[in-house]
Amino acid sequence: MTFSPKRYSEPNKAAENTCRPFGIYIHWPYCKSKCPYCDFFSQVKPHINQEAIIDEYIKELDFYYDYTAREEVTSIFFGGGTPSLIKPQLIEKIINHIARHWCISPKVEISLEANPNTDDGTLFLNLKSAGINRLSLGVQSLNDKDLKFLGRTHTLSQALKSIDHVLKTFDNHSMDLIYARPNQSLKSWQEELQQAVSFGFKHLSLYQLTIEEGTFFAKKGIKELEEEIAANMYRQTVSYLREHNYPRYEVSNFASSQYESRHNKLYWQGDNYIGIGPSAHGRIQTQAGKIYATTHPCQMENLSPQDRAEELLFMGLRLQTGIDKTLYLNRCGIPLDSFINQPALARLSKMHLIDNTQTHLKLTDKGFLVMNTIVEQLICPE
Ligand SMILES: C[S@@+](CC[C@H](N)C(=O)[O-])C[C@H]1O[C@@H](n2cnc3c(N)ncnc32)[C@H](O)[C@@H]1O
Ligand code: SF4
Repeated sequence: MTFSPKRYSEPNKAAENTCRPFGIYIHWPYCKSKCPYCDFFSQVKPHINQEAIIDEYIKELDFYYDYTAREEVTSIFFGGGTPSLIKPQLIEKIINHIARHWCISPKVEISLEANPNTDDGTLFLNLKSAGINRLSLGVQSLNDKDLKFLGRTHTLSQALKSIDHVLKTFDNHSMDLIYARPNQSLKSWQEELQQAVSFGFKHLSLYQLTIEEGTFFAKKGIKELEEEIAANMYRQTVSYLREHNYPRYEVSNFASSQYESRHNKLYWQGDNYIGIGPSAHGRIQTQAGKIYATTHPCQMENLSPQDRAEELLFMGLRLQTGIDKTLYLNRCGIPLDSFINQPALARLSKMHLIDNTQTHLKLTDKGFLVMNTIVEQLICPE
C-alpha cells in the first residue's frame, strides 16, 4: 500500500472538544478466505507485511490528529475484513499511539471483530492484553450445514470453543449471526435464536442475509428469502429478544442500554469519527459547523448541509429512539421539520408507521419493516 497524504488547506485543530463522542475506526481489509455473500472490501492475501501496513496507518492517524486534536476518544473499533488476523502487538502499537496523542475517555470502548477461524486458543487473551475491551465474534450460524452454505471455514464445534473463550476473557462481548437464509424455517431460526440467547453475550447483531451484486451468491443466482417470511422472522426476532432482555436499539442490533455499541452509535447519531485504512471513511464537524467527509487516504471533502441532513435522516431512523431534533439541527444546521416532506410525514403518521413528537422522530414497530420506503418518502420533494 502506498501512502500519499494530501494535506487539506484548512487551518488545523478544526474540531474543538464539544464533549460529544468521538471515535476512531481502523479497517483491516484482509481475510483468510472470501465468504460468498460478502461485498465488504476484503482481500485474501496470505503474505503481507503487517508491520509496514500498520506504520502507514499510524501516518494516517497523525494526519487526522491535526483536525481532531481536542476531541476525547470515546471509542476505537477494529473492523474488517478480519482484524483478528492483526498481530496483537500491532493492535497494541496502534492503541498506544492513539493514547499518546489524543485524550482518552476513562470509559473508552475498544472493540475488535474476530472470526472463529483465527482463534488459536490464546488469541483473545493476547487481544485483551493489547487493550481490546469488547470483542465481537462473527459466528453467523449455529449449525454446520448453514456454516458450510455460508462458506465459513469454521465448524460449529470451533464456533462453540471460540464463544467459550470470548465469554471467559471479556466482560463486554457481542456475536453476529446471519438469518433468513434460503430454506431456513421460522422454527429452526427460533431454535437458533434461543441458543444464541443462552450463551449470555452482552450484545447481539443479527442480520438478514442480503444478496449483494457482484458476490459469488449473486452470480450463482441465490435468492433472498421471500419478503413476507423474512419479515415474520424479523418480528419474531425482535419480540423474542425483547422478552429476553435484548431490546432492539437499532434495526439489527440488540442489547440493554449499557451494552449498546458506543462506536456504532456514533454513525447513527451523526457524531465525529475518523476512519483509517482502505474503505474507511469519517465525518468531522468543526465548531463553526462545517462538515468534512473523509476517505482513504487522507482526503477531506466538504459535505453540503443538504447531503448531511439526508444521511442524518436515514442513519437516525435506524435507531429505536429515532432522531433527536435538537441534535439533528446541531449536526446539519437544518431543522428536521423543514427538511422532510410534510404531507408524506402526515400520511406516514396516520398509517402508524412513524411517530413524530415535539422532540423526536422515530419509526414504529410496523415502520421498521418498511424503513427504506419511509425514508424515500420523507426525502422526496413530491
Ligand atoms: C464486515 S463483516 C466482518 C466480520 C468478520 N469478518 C466476519 O466475517 O465474521 C460484519 C458482519 O456483516 C454481516 N454481513 C456481511 N455480509 C452480509 C450479507 N450479505 N448479509 C447479511 N449480513 C452480512 C456479517 O454478520 C458479518 O459478521
Ligand atoms: S464476511 Fe468477514 S470473513 Fe467473510 S469475506 Fe467478509 S469480511 Fe471476510
